[in-house]
Amino acid sequence: MSGADARRPLIAGNWKMYKTVAEAESFVQSLLPRIAGRAGIDVGICPPFPALAAIVDSTRGSSVGVYAQNMHQEPEGAFTGEVSAPMLAELGVQGTILGHSERREQFGESDRALQLKLPAALQAGLEPILCVGETEEERERGDTERKLRHQVQEDLTRVEDARLSEVVIAYEPIWAIGSGKVATAEQAQEAIAFIRALVADRSRVAAERTRILYGGSVKAENAQELLALPDVDGALVGGASLDADTFAAIVAAAP
Ligand code: PGA
Repeated sequence: MSGADARRPLIAGNWKMYKTVAEAESFVQSLLPRIAGRAGIDVGICPPFPALAAIVDSTRGSSVGVYAQNMHQEPEGAFTGEVSAPMLAELGVQGTILGHSERREQFGESDRALQLKLPAALQAGLEPILCVGETEEERERGDTERKLRHQVQEDLTRVEDARLSEVVIAYEPIWAIGSGKVATAEQAQEAIAFIRALVADRSRVAAERTRILYGGSVKAENAQELLALPDVDGALVGGASLDADTFAAIVAAAP
């Protein structure tokens, strides 16, 4: 097996700060039968912290993995309001989103912190989904590649080559998040191929295996075209992941 054949598609739903435990449970009850026949693909949901334990339980034995949306880099300590990787791993959580643009922009998430968070997640047995992407202004100035190079190189600095392919990367152009403005197929393929080349600069073998997702206004209507692109290994879905029917339609659109 080589190249795209070795990469199992991942469709992950980033719920952000939506859904109580009860709402999350009812989503899962509605999702599971809708995706039951779907083989050869990984499905992830990323609920807020309070719903993680319940959703790990109610998805047990299914193809759905549960991911957090953030974590602290230290295993424990005086960090009021934070949650660590071993705490998430103990719940049976599969991984966590790291470096989402909302966290970078609104909560001061830095590349420096991400350099520590990525190896901490791997060490605890969690699969990180590292988000990177340019602003609209950066794209217009022609700085997309510069921004992606900076984020990918910096954030992965402390991940050893042998573990690089365990990090899922999500290319999320910030101008496409929650805006209804999806990247064109050409923009998505170009940026994701560029990210893969950046990983290849570290390790060719890892680059062949690393799953790179597209995120930003993915909907049932545009999923098929995006997911068919040669370097796109899945999607990180925000708004459209909150409804079980819509999310199942996106899962069904994966090749
Ligand atoms: P969106 O969000 O699908 O609502 O654009 C994507 C994300 O923020 O991960």
